[in-house]
Amino acid sequence: MIHSSLQLPRPGLQSAAGSTSVPLPAAPSPQASGAGRIEISAVSHRFTDTPVLRDITVTLTERRIGIIGANGSGKSTFARLLNGLLVPDRGRVVVDGLDTARDIKAVRRKVGFVFQNPDNQIVFPTVAEDLAFGLKGLGLGRAERAEMVTQMLARFGLEALADQSAHKLSGGQKQLLAIAGVLITKPACVVFDEPTTALDLRNTRHIAGVIAALSETAIVVTHDLDLISGFDRVLVFDAGRIVADDTPARAIAEYLRRMQ
Ligand SMILES: Nc1ncnc2c1ncn2[C@@H]1O[C@H](COP(=O)(O)OP(=O)(O)OP(=O)(O)O)[C@@H](O)[C@H]1O
Ligand SMILES: [Mg+2]
Repeated sequence: MIHSSLQLPRPGLQSAAGSTSVPLPAAPSPQASGAGRIEISAVSHRFTDTPVLRDITVTLTERRIGIIGANGSGKSTFARLLNGLLVPDRGRVVVDGLDTARDIKAVRRKVGFVFQNPDNQIVFPTVAEDLAFGLKGLGLGRAERAEMVTQMLARFGLEALADQSAHKLSGGQKQLLAIAGVLITKPACVVFDEPTTALDLRNTRHIAGVIAALSETAIVVTHDLDLISGFDRVLVFDAGRIVADDTPARAIAEYLRRMQ
């Protein structure tokens, strides 16, 4: 079991992404700092009679945390707790002192969520408009918003697609846009639910590179074991419980043992 390790070095691009010739995004902005502490205390949840999360207590402080486990084991449900998309039946989720049941707006500003299906979060016709949408309501001027959109397009190599219809992008491009759309709001922590499941090898490596280069905290739910092999900490879910909480190598070994 790893305890607080904010001091741990961040995984290098190579360890998370493997060797790749795909261009990686520019260096992350210096102002992002990472969420310090997410405390999940005695959390249980059910949608029907069957419990989906069973009495989970865990504190997340590391900058790169992977979540793996069988289909239906509760990973996405757990992930949705972290930014208040879901409030648990029992127990509390507290992000840097903010309770997701009470301080939802502040929690959402701190913790961004990238859905498995990018179509769920692409709402505006063009790529640039979609990115600009995330900045609405933050009290920024028009010129400042435009500058941030330009910077984010460049960071993700999407400049040439700025005026293209967002829904006509490829799956990988949509995934990049969805990630950019979350990052532009400058959350301290980003939760990714299966960010590479639908992608080819090149785009999988690209997304792995994007995640590895983030200065934000990343919590990544995935079935792609390579993606989390360089992370600081990996949780293994089984039937609504965390059954391993360890280094990637040991957690993956436990997951593989359970999958036999
Ligand atoms: N909105 C919902 N209503 C009813 N049941 C739900 C709902 N969301 C999830 N469940 C159930 O909760 C259980 C856990 O689902 P969850 O999506 O968290 O699993 P998962 O570990 O993310 O699985 P996968 O690897 O397939 O994505 C499943 O049995 C699922 O059917
Ligand atoms: Mg899931």
